[in-house]
Amino acid sequence: MAEFTLPKNSKVQKGKHFASPGAKQPRTFKVYRWSPDDDANPRMDTYEVDMAACGPMVLDALIKIKNEIDPTLTFRRSCREGICGSCAMNIDGTNTLACTKSIDDCGKSEVPIYPLPHMEVVKDLVPDLTHFYAQYASIQPWIRTQSAPPPDRERLQSKEDRAKLDGLYECILCACCSTSCPSYWWNGDRYLGPAILLQAYRWIVDSRDEDTGARLDDLEDPFKLYRCHTIMNCARTCPKGLNPAKAIGEIKQLMLARRG
Ligand code: SF4
Ligand code: SF4
Ligand code: FES
Repeated sequence: MAEFTLPKNSKVQKGKHFASPGAKQPRTFKVYRWSPDDDANPRMDTYEVDMAACGPMVLDALIKIKNEIDPTLTFRRSCREGICGSCAMNIDGTNTLACTKSIDDCGKSEVPIYPLPHMEVVKDLVPDLTHFYAQYASIQPWIRTQSAPPPDRERLQSKEDRAKLDGLYECILCACCSTSCPSYWWNGDRYLGPAILLQAYRWIVDSRDEDTGARLDDLEDPFKLYRCHTIMNCARTCPKGLNPAKAIGEIKQLMLARRG
């Protein structure tokens, strides 16, 4: 039977407030908190941060909170320059990277920060990406060949063929797009979602790959590919400016073309 209310233990409650007395330019961040180590409901803690002594990005504020206000706050980050994808989270209502999201661009006076939506939460702002990475592995993201490699050099590619990878190779697998996709929310167990399909297309169009037919066969499935209904949330949210919906459309075109 369908349930229309959240179970009691998932209701998000009001959390602690951490004031910043004497702050010259206070800005408030409301941050989702949940830990598997206690039996408590998730809560929203509020932190006042002095912008006069903080870097410009949301990740700077989170690091300042962790270093100076509340060391229990848990989040992922590594590169702090939009390359590793690990700081992906939902900030001010949009899935994006904390390290490239400017605090000044956050519209709300209290900046809300949640983990990526519709994923299991490991702790606080850290989503469980196990299934996402398993889906990535399932598309075999490497060059598959039958022919022997040239004896004296790498497998080469023309400039034109290389250009076909533009708009695809830049994907950092942050999962912002997949976790903004309603089809992935409801069918993420079987639908591969925009990030993984963009990656699948990246190998399908690589002129050096010799397994295009088998790759398309693998996607010829009512769930893996065809759950995309062109809602376009994915392209709207991608922090790298990529368009997974277009890549998905290209895969569908290739499927049609080979049916003749
Ligand atoms: S397409 Fe964009 S949003 Fe999606 S995983 Fe790649 S970089 Fe992230
Ligand atoms: S275009 Fe497709 S993949 Fe992108 S958000 Fe919509 S349904 Fe999801
Ligand atoms: S910390 Fe690497 S993308 Fe943000």
